[in-house]
Amino acid sequence: MPGRLIVRAPAKINLGLAVLGLRSDGYHNIVSVFQAIDWQDTLEMSSAGQSIELSCGMDGVPADHRNLVWRAVALARQEYDVQQGVCIDLHKGIPAGAGLGGGSSDAAAALRGVKNLFNLPGSEDNWLALCARIGSDVPFFWRGGTARVEGRGERVVPLGLTERIWFVVAVPRVHVSTAWAYASLPGTLPEPGSFVERVDALQSGAISLLDFSRDIPNDFESVVEAVHPEIGRLRKHLLREGAVNARMSGSGSAVFGVFARQCDAERALLSLPENVRAQCCEALPPSDWSSSD
Ligand code: C5P
Repeated sequence: MPGRLIVRAPAKINLGLAVLGLRSDGYHNIVSVFQAIDWQDTLEMSSAGQSIELSCGMDGVPADHRNLVWRAVALARQEYDVQQGVCIDLHKGIPAGAGLGGGSSDAAAALRGVKNLFNLPGSEDNWLALCARIGSDVPFFWRGGTARVEGRGERVVPLGLTERIWFVVAVPRVHVSTAWAYASLPGTLPEPGSFVERVDALQSGAISLLDFSRDIPNDFESVVEAVHPEIGRLRKHLLREGAVNARMSGSGSAVFGVFARQCDAERALLSLPENVRAQCCEALPPSDWSSSD
């Protein structure tokens, strides 16, 4: 049994997001391509005591049962009847409430950590089902990389891409509630047909990730930008600075510009106003993101 594990939890962006409609369970079916990026949180995990002890130094991020990390560890201990306690230090790097999936990624990282700490069995499907019980975006983060995501988020098909592309990810200082964004969608949404065809083409290898990214929708964008115009201004700025495309991620508020070359992304990053929190990020391949010492 490893003494202490370091588990990395990467952020994601949505390379396109179409909402298909409301389901009978209150959630919405979506089609999206999730992309893991190198902007990350880190979890230090060890087995200690008989309970869950979580610490997190960031204001506004609770360190108790309201935190998805705590819930993920509790769920895994319950499912596998683990008696030993777990101690977790959560180091936040990913801005919270920005549509970058930080909390969901932390939860998946915590599950991977508990699995590795106690050498727990279970098929990939079992662990993915546990992820889905914690939150809609959590199953993607079990492996990350580039994936086609459908259903309410639980249907994850890894796309196995290794193309190198870069993003400038910028986070305006506004918080957007995911539940509010879904509830604010118009009754009639755009037909997702052409986007689904493009996702099919990406999956079959007919188009590259860069070409795919040139034309991607985000059904939340107009609703959220109507309330927070600074999001639209940031997208336009990134387009002026040479981004192949610039979109909002998920239900916001983060936006990303897509770049074929790292040097162009870094130049665009430097052009952003100083008060905007932003980072140049590379697309990450799938990984387990764990190491022990
Ligand atoms: O699953 P998660 O806690 O991330 O979802 C937050 C809220 O966003 C849900 O309570 C629901 O209102 C909405 N949601 C949705 N359809 C999804 C994902 C989230 O309606 N696919």
